[in-house]
Amino acid sequence: MEKRRILTGDRPTGKLHLGHYVGSLANRVQLQDEYECFFIIADLHTLTTRPEKHHIIEMRHHIRDLVLDYLAVGIDPEKSVIFVQSAIPGTYELNLIFEMLVSVPRLERVPSIKEMARDARLETLPFGLLGYPVLQAADILLPRAHLVPVGKDNQAHVEVARELARRFNRLYGPVFPVPEILLGEVPTLVGIDGVKMSKSRDNAIYLSDDAATVERKVRKMYTDPQRVRADIPGRVEGNPVFIYHDAFNPDKDEVEDLKERYRQGKVGDVEVKERLARALNAFLDPIRERRARYEAQPGLIEEILRSGIRRMCQEADETMHLVREAMGLEAQPGPTAHSVPPPGLVYC
Ligand code: TRP
Repeated sequence: MEKRRILTGDRPTGKLHLGHYVGSLANRVQLQDEYECFFIIADLHTLTTRPEKHHIIEMRHHIRDLVLDYLAVGIDPEKSVIFVQSAIPGTYELNLIFEMLVSVPRLERVPSIKEMARDARLETLPFGLLGYPVLQAADILLPRAHLVPVGKDNQAHVEVARELARRFNRLYGPVFPVPEILLGEVPTLVGIDGVKMSKSRDNAIYLSDDAATVERKVRKMYTDPQRVRADIPGRVEGNPVFIYHDAFNPDKDEVEDLKERYRQGKVGDVEVKERLARALNAFLDPIRERRARYEAQPGLIEEILRSGIRRMCQEADETMHLVREAMGLEAQPGPTAHSVPPPGLVYC
């Protein structure tokens, strides 16, 4: 039997952090053998808030960083497809078709859209930003994916993709699976200051941080604000230090012991943090080693992307053929002759 498929990915806006790991990357690595995996670097999605050319040029570095982050956490390019969204013509085509199958009020109800507009300090909502979830649906359904491992911030977008799959299938016939969402074990990890992670707050621990940086960030981490001295009882629930211990310290006995002593006022923040920094660095060490190994191979990233794009283009062609046929847009039913790629398209 053919393997079921995963599609998920990220916008190339910077380095990935521990929140990305627990939200989605851990699931990706774990499911790599069970599923056929497609990982998208969603550069077109960044245009919804940052269409300026200098941002586009800057993105080239972010794309490289993203591929390295993927490889470093253990995504295996021999098993999984890694590709850049803008290189796949089918994305633009399916996006347009899906735009006809969803209403404006439905998209206005997606909470993250207004948040993104606010974060980017946009005064009015670009048409394309309203369509962010539609483009994401095109990404997901182009390889006809069954499962989408993402963080909670993307849940509402996957819901739109499910609705579009159902609506398309109802109107034209069964072409798409209705994709399931898979949330991570910690769907949203707080920053080291206890609030939502964001670039502007500089409150994330990155997968590429070195050991000293991790120690420094953990030392700055917020704990229980009520606890002014180490000998008074502290709160464990909602305390960032313990949220991170729970997520990253594999020694559950140690974590339970620390929590117990913390509640009784018998352990200082310093010890709790030292043990956390140790656990985080032990978690990050193999990631650092893999990164160094991949980084030392010149041309590797380009080769991975070139073959990923080629592979995804084949899948996209197949899906778009089914889509056009189902819709009655294809002149002749049945397999067509090899289609002529648009000019300038190097990889397809
Ligand atoms: N919206 C995702 C983000 O928050 C990126 C993304 C684009 C994506 N297309 C996708 C995620 C398809 C999962 C599936 O950056």
